[in-house]
Formats: sequence, structure tokens, C-alpha cells
Amino acid sequence: MHGPRHLVNIALIGFMGTGKTSVGRLAAEQLHYDYIDTDDVIQTNTGRSITDIFTKDGEPAFRALEEKVVAELTSRTRTVIATGGGLPVNPENLASLKTHALVVCLWSSPEKIWERVRHQGHRPLLHDENPQAKIRELLAAREPFYKNADVLLNTELRSVREVAQQVVHQFRLEASGR
Ligand code: S3P
Repeated sequence: MHGPRHLVNIALIGFMGTGKTSVGRLAAEQLHYDYIDTDDVIQTNTGRSITDIFTKDGEPAFRALEEKVVAELTSRTRTVIATGGGLPVNPENLASLKTHALVVCLWSSPEKIWERVRHQGHRPLLHDENPQAKIRELLAAREPFYKNADVLLNTELRSVREVAQQVVHQFRLEASGR
């Protein structure tokens, strides 16, 4: 269904709070690439916040918007793409990203994720009575999907700068065909 791979972009996948935004911005800066975030694109396209879409229209409506953005990304070049945490659960999204991007998954433990997201309120899936349990549950359910990335990077013991350097290094290796 999808053609041969042509690695002109980097896509960062991974759970909320694993550092996709900060790592993505820095990697883009180092490569002189554009940076985009699928959640930002959805918010710009709809003029609404992610929370508003989840609350009023429900998660399936959000996932449909996400799928549409992924399809539009196929025309991008020289771009670092940070993706929403649930995006690769749809195998069609991951397959589409892989046609044009090196897919790098950023990984952290549930404890580290909680530490990073606990003071932020903009993630509707964590508006839960027990957000820590929710993180563990979602992470376990998504692990098999995240592991379909080309590269898996544990961000737990590394600085944003170190992770960004790893991402850039892997991309240069893969894009040059080794
Ligand atoms: C989601 C993660 C969020 C955002 C939405 C749903 C998820 O993105 O897409 O709240 O399903 O894990 P971040 O991973 O950038 O927080």
C-alpha cells in the first residue's frame, strides 16, 4: 500500500512527557529543518484546543483529525515532526510516517513521565482520578506500537541535548544509507 522509503524527515513518537517537543525543537535547530507538532497543526486547523475537541467531540473525533494531519505530512521535507502520544496506535499512521520519515520513539518510565507531566493540565487523557495509574495502563497498552519505531531511545537518564544529538546522529546514518 505504501511505496519505498525516502527518509527526508524525522518523526518523534512516544508517550506524553517523554520529551518529543523539546528534543524535536533542538534536533530541528541542529539540522536547520522545520519543526512541527501534530497537536499544534490540529489546533491551528480547527481553531480549538485539544482539550475542547476531546471534551465536546470525543476521542474518536480527535483521532480522525490526527489521521488527516498524518496524511498531509507526506508532502513535507526537511522537517522534524513531533507527534501526539496516541498517534502511532493507529498502524496506518505509523506506516504513512515511515514512508518519508525516520521514526524515533522516545521512551521513559511511568514514574519519570509522571514527574514531567504532573504540573501540566493540558492533557485530557490525564484528567483522571488516578493519573499515575492511567499513565501505567496507557503506556503498557501502547508499548507494542511504540516498539515499531525504527529507533528506540530511552530519555530517562539523558539530557534533552544528548537525546537530540542521538536523534540527529541516527538520522544522518540512516538518511545517507550508512
Ligand atoms: C495524547 C497525547 C497528547 C495529545 C492528546 C492525546 C495521547 O500529545 O495528542 O492529548 O493520546 O497520548 P503529547 O504526547 O504531545 O502530550
